[in-house]
Amino acid sequence: MTAAQVDVPLSIDTVREARRAARLGGAIHYFESVDSTNSVAHRLAGECAAEGTVVIAETQTRGRGRLGRRWISPPLRNLYMSVVLRPPLPAAAAPQLSLVAGLAAAETIREWTPRACLKWPNDVLIDGRKVCGILTEMEAEGGRVAFVILGIGVNLNSTDDEFPAELQGKAVSVRSTTGAIVDRTAFTERLLSRLEERYDLFLREGFAAIQPLWEALSGLTGRHVRIDDGGTHYEGCVAGIADDGSLRVRDATGRALQVMVGDVTVVDGYATDHGKE
Ligand code: BTN
Repeated sequence: MTAAQVDVPLSIDTVREARRAARLGGAIHYFESVDSTNSVAHRLAGECAAEGTVVIAETQTRGRGRLGRRWISPPLRNLYMSVVLRPPLPAAAAPQLSLVAGLAAAETIREWTPRACLKWPNDVLIDGRKVCGILTEMEAEGGRVAFVILGIGVNLNSTDDEFPAELQGKAVSVRSTTGAIVDRTAFTERLLSRLEERYDLFLREGFAAIQPLWEALSGLTGRHVRIDDGGTHYEGCVAGIADDGSLRVRDATGRALQVMVGDVTVVDGYATDHGKE
């Protein structure tokens, strides 16, 4: 086997061949540069692109993150991918898809480093620094999901000094964790395969089947956190996630809360016991 190289394009034909008959990735649109793979996938979905259509770009000029943030997308270094999903679900269940995708991403990253863990709702962290983010965008019709765009960004081969000043100490790549260049082609294949497996499980058995798998990789359970849901602030100790995907928190008075949306800040540092295989 040859060593992985940095700054070479993805072997997209290899990924296409591996996914030829699969539910996710049967059609892959590959670009050198786009504004945002989510925007391209959204346009394709509006033009009736089938479930499982994938958009991958080597760089994004306007990569988007959650809460209006940008996603830094240097060329040929990382993975920027969006997937069109058409789940037969009520619109209210769509946020659970982000957790399903987060689980698949964390499981895949852990094939490269066992130090990856999940931060609710859908970040993957290594030693408290973000290695992967997920942006889910939905179109609904009559209270049902018409389509969901699942946008996944994974920092694979960026070096620490390539992150902008405001992300220093907050973002990390798999390569800077392990010291080894990541084969982006192999990673993309593994991620699509894992995503399909977890998505199928979710559709077959509901979020209750995902919840224990997610909790097993959670870096938040037992941590003291602050949650901002865009208006209200909560503070407390994380008890886990519920079988609908909401975050279970116990506040200082012992009151149990369930939070459906929000941005979480860990007040007392991260657990490190996910270093074990
Ligand atoms: C986050 O803020 O954590 C979500 C980041 C999501 C980034 C990915 S990269 C591929 C896709 N295209 C985008 O513009 N955003 C998502």
